[in-house]
Amino acid sequence: MTEALFSPSFGNRPHELVGREAILDNILTGLKSQPGSKDRAVVILGQRGSGKTVLLWELADRASEAGFVVATPTIVTDGMLERVVEKIQDAGENCLRKKRVPISGGNLGVLGFSVGLQFTPEIQDSKSFQYKLTQLTRALSKQGKGILILVDELQANSPDIRQLIIAYQELVGEGQNIAIVMAGLPGAVSATLNDKVLTFLNRAKKVVLEPLPFSDVDAFYLNAFKKLGLDVPGELRREASTAVQGSPYLLQLIGHNVSLYAGSEKTIDDATMSEAIKSAQIDYENDVCKTTLSALSDKDRAFLTAMAKVGTPAKMSEVALAMGESQDYAQKYRRRLIDAGVIESPERGKVDFAVPYLEKYLEQDI
Ligand SMILES: Nc1ncnc2c1ncn2[C@@H]1O[C@H](COP(=O)(O)OP(=O)(O)O)[C@@H](O)[C@H]1O
Ligand SMILES: [Mg+2]
Repeated sequence: MTEALFSPSFGNRPHELVGREAILDNILTGLKSQPGSKDRAVVILGQRGSGKTVLLWELADRASEAGFVVATPTIVTDGMLERVVEKIQDAGENCLRKKRVPISGGNLGVLGFSVGLQFTPEIQDSKSFQYKLTQLTRALSKQGKGILILVDELQANSPDIRQLIIAYQELVGEGQNIAIVMAGLPGAVSATLNDKVLTFLNRAKKVVLEPLPFSDVDAFYLNAFKKLGLDVPGELRREASTAVQGSPYLLQLIGHNVSLYAGSEKTIDDATMSEAIKSAQIDYENDVCKTTLSALSDKDRAFLTAMAKVGTPAKMSEVALAMGESQDYAQKYRRRLIDAGVIESPERGKVDFAVPYLEKYLEQDI
C-alpha cells in the first residue's frame, strides 16, 4: 500500500499528481490550438525533483487521449532522433489499428512506406531524420492525426536537438499538425547556445514548475495517511507538509518515511515525525543539493556559500563582501545562479535560495 501511495524515486509516476492540474490544462489547451501556434512549442523548466519527467508522461497520456500520436519522452542522448521516429511509428500504427485503417501493403497513400508506418529499406537506410519525420507527419495528417514529440532532460547545445528543432520549424512552415514539449533544468535555456536553437527556445511557451502550494500538499497527506490507516495528529501532518517546501520529490520522500516510521502500530509522535523528516532531508540533500552544486563552477559555489554565511534573504553588498569580491563581480554570479534556478531575488538588492534545504546543506561546511 505504501508502495502504491508514495513513489520516492526519480521518474517514478506518482499515485496522484499533486498541484499540477492547472499547468496540465494550460499546456494541453495550447497543444490543441491551431497548427503553427506558438503555444504548440513548450519548454518546461524546473529543478531536479520538481516533477518534469512525470509531468511529461502525464502529458503523453492525456495528449494521446486527445487524439495526438505521441512520441513518449525521449531523453536527449546520441541516437535520440531514431528513437523519436520509432516511437511515432509505433504510436501511429496503434492509432491506425484503432481506427481500423488497414496498415499492410503500403496503402497509406504516401510513398516510401512498406507496411504500416515502417519505411522501405532504402528509405530507412538512406534518408535523414528530417525526411522521415516529414513523411510520417504527412501520412498521419492524411488520417487526421497530429504528432506530439516529448523530450526530456533537454540539452540545448546537443546537435540532435538542433536537428529536431529545424525539422519542427519546417513542418510548422508547411502548416503540418505537429507539436513539441521539452523539459529541462532552468539553466538549459540560458546556456551559450547557437542562434537557431536559442531563438526557438526563447520564443517557445515557457512553463516553470513552481513549488507545490502548501494546501495541496497538506490535503494530499491528509488523504494518503487516512488511506493507510495512519494516526497522524494534524499538527504533525502540517509539520510534514511544511518540511516538503513545495518539492514533489520531498513530498514523496517524507510521505514514504512517515508510513515507514509509523511501523505496525501505525502511529506517529513528535519524535518519529522528526526522524522521518530528517532522513528524507538527507536523501534530498544527496540526490538534489549535492547534484545541483556539482553542476556549478567553484565561483558559483563560493557565491552560494557566502549567501549561507550572511544568512538569507542576503543583501548583495554583504554577499560580495563575504566573497571578498567587488559588487560588480558578484553581480555576474548572481545573474548566472538566477538563470540556473538555484537562487531568486525576493526584493531589490537581495538574494535567497530557490532550492529547498540547499542553505542548510551549505551551512554544514561553514
Ligand atoms: N505533481 C506531483 N505530485 C506528486 N508527486 C510528484 C509530482 N511530481 C513529481 N512527483 C514525484 O517527485 C519525484 C521526482 O519527479 P521527477 O518527475 O522525476 O522530477 P524531475 O524529472 O523534475 O527531476 C518522483 O518521485 C515523482 O513521483
Ligand atoms: Mg527527470
